[in-house]
Amino acid sequence: MFGRMKRVSFAEFGGPDVLQLVDAEEPHAGPGQVRIAVRAAGVNPHDWRVREGQFQKTHPIELPAGVGLDASGVVDEVGVGVEGVAIGDHVFGEGSSTYAEFAVLSAWARMPEGLTFEEAAGYPSVVETALRIIGQVGVRSGQTLLVSGASGGVGSAVLQIARVRGITVIGTAGAANQDYLRGLGALATTYDAGWVERVCQLGQVDAALDLAGSGVIGQLVELTGDPQKVISIADLGAPEHGVRFSGVAGSVSEALAEAADLISGGKLHIPVEKSYTLAEAAAAHIDSHAGHTRGRRVMVV
Ligand SMILES: NC(=O)c1ccc[n+]([C@@H]2O[C@H](COP(=O)([O-])OP(=O)(O)OC[C@H]3O[C@@H](n4cnc5c(N)ncnc54)[C@H](OP(=O)(O)O)[C@@H]3O)[C@@H](O)[C@H]2O)c1
Repeated sequence: MFGRMKRVSFAEFGGPDVLQLVDAEEPHAGPGQVRIAVRAAGVNPHDWRVREGQFQKTHPIELPAGVGLDASGVVDEVGVGVEGVAIGDHVFGEGSSTYAEFAVLSAWARMPEGLTFEEAAGYPSVVETALRIIGQVGVRSGQTLLVSGASGGVGSAVLQIARVRGITVIGTAGAANQDYLRGLGALATTYDAGWVERVCQLGQVDAALDLAGSGVIGQLVELTGDPQKVISIADLGAPEHGVRFSGVAGSVSEALAEAADLISGGKLHIPVEKSYTLAEAAAAHIDSHAGHTRGRRVMVV
């Protein structure tokens, strides 16, 4: 007898209206995994890219499929070979089909004291990405990092981790997010016309990250003087400029352990801009797709 649960699912690739809240079989923790009763799931641009079928050539999935990578919740099954976590523990991590009442995680960490489930669901993939690309671009303490698209999920993590490491950040974001960037310790300017000149006035750039995919790779190479000093996570055309596209995820468990220390020490906090119920998944995807999230969007279960 298999238990049943509610999950967000889609049976064809397409727009937000293909998302449905359906009755589904509960998943179970396999070896090396835990199952959680999901309290919140992070909304990532990755989720609507999968829904649109953007990864079918490189990472094909079968339909119907669930949605979501990131989640927080209460452990209720522990898979074979898993140590250091028990039923009832509050964890945040990465898995699959997390817009659901139950989900299986393949990487997780215990939630830091004082963090809500809603906040915790926003961290996993953005802190893994932020730590990965700061490492790959090779920026060091005392240097200056330019971050294009700095106010979203990944940007919010990059800015705060860079500050801890003694790296000066110049961030670009919309007019409404200038004070938000300054509050995270960055120098800020908008991405409107003339942004290259304004960045130059703020300082000399040693390395740059393209987080928005807004067609600025050429300018980032000019500002750093070296394509090896630029990384993009959002522009597949980056290699045409000799610039690396970073797409292969690193260790989420290590990233979460580092993030948990920073969160506990008051050095990392990513705000939740808006929460949605599972029934509002389409609205969450429409808002994420608009590309102007400050911090994170989450589904609350
Ligand atoms: N390759 C990987 O491993 C990987 C991992 C994670 C994410 N990603 C991709 O990276 C991108 C960012 O992810 P995210 O979670 O940070 O997204 P997000 O939370 O939606 O943030 C998007 C950000 O882009 C900014 N923005 C919008 N238009 C811009 C423009 N023309 N110039 C500069 N900035 C602009 C927005 O700032 P304002 O609101 O202030 O306008 C917002 O802060 C997405 O495309 C995602 O798919 C890739």
